[in-house]
Amino acid sequence: MRVILDCDPGIDDTYAIIFLTAAAQAGLIELDCVTTTSGNAPADQCARNAAWVLGLCGLPIIPLAAGVPEPLEVDLTTTPETHGDTGLGYATAPERHVEHDWDALWIDSIARGTDDLHLIVTGPLTSLAAFAHTHPEHFAKLKHITVMGGAVHYPGNTTPSAEWNFWVDPHAAADVFALTPTPITLCSLGVTEKMVLKPEALAELVDRLGGSPVAEHLEAITRFYFEFHQDVGEGYQAQIHDLLTVLIALDLVDYQSTETTVAVEADSELMRGTSVADLRGIWEREPNACLVTEADVEAAWERFGWACDVHAKVAAGDAEIEELRHLRADD
Ligand code: BDR
Ligand code: CA
Repeated sequence: MRVILDCDPGIDDTYAIIFLTAAAQAGLIELDCVTTTSGNAPADQCARNAAWVLGLCGLPIIPLAAGVPEPLEVDLTTTPETHGDTGLGYATAPERHVEHDWDALWIDSIARGTDDLHLIVTGPLTSLAAFAHTHPEHFAKLKHITVMGGAVHYPGNTTPSAEWNFWVDPHAAADVFALTPTPITLCSLGVTEKMVLKPEALAELVDRLGGSPVAEHLEAITRFYFEFHQDVGEGYQAQIHDLLTVLIALDLVDYQSTETTVAVEADSELMRGTSVADLRGIWEREPNACLVTEADVEAAWERFGWACDVHAKVAAGDAEIEELRHLRADD
């Protein structure tokens, strides 16, 4: 299986990168490239963050580029109050040059075949929508797309009805669901909010990361997110949406889903970014989404623990990673 990650790190996106790099190091996946979208922070800043995290996770060589810098029609809003000024909580990635050839990276990856290629989007859908408009022939070839976004018939986290990724670029979200020829696996807030991390569990995970360079920074990155969730009344803990999304995309946790038609409201001020699913088939349209309705969150945290073990072994130069390869949802 090959993966393109389009993300906006972002604290929970960082957990997604930690998992994917472990899976790549253990030979479970090939991480074709990482691209970034503007959301939690501007796309260039997110690319710096991603580059740093990839390096801390031992894979600085993964092709990386920043995607489309601004939403399709609305002004960019970022969220320093949620993810910190840098996008990585209390941590700061070093300055570096950022490439912008994101669509060339996607096209190269698509040219290698799409039967086993998974595009996972854990930020706003700006780049994916732009890709659908400017490269429709390549977009049409994508067979496996998984998206974190939307609050489908569920309270939003940005407005009463909208989730952040869809709210930041509602036109992009609307376009992607209108244009996709293949149902998109949609991990929306009602499911991803259940992927909760508490300080004690974080301490254990940092311990499991052992001598991996990422271990040194994960607490500073995450503490900001704990504080944000406490400030908004969720308690001193954090929802790690994007990690669960990656695990569902890779079919590494059990989950339930339903095929349906999803649409996103883009133009109304009140309902901006609101997503709906036609669960009764009233629109009589082809399904464009595979809406995830439940997921095994406990198993997801076990998988992440495995990823921490892989990073610890890589850092220790331990060649027994082969033993860790056999990871399936039914293990
Ligand atoms: C989503 O918004 C971002 O803040 C997170 O990274 C996640 O992708 C959750 O609404
Ligand atoms: Ca994100």
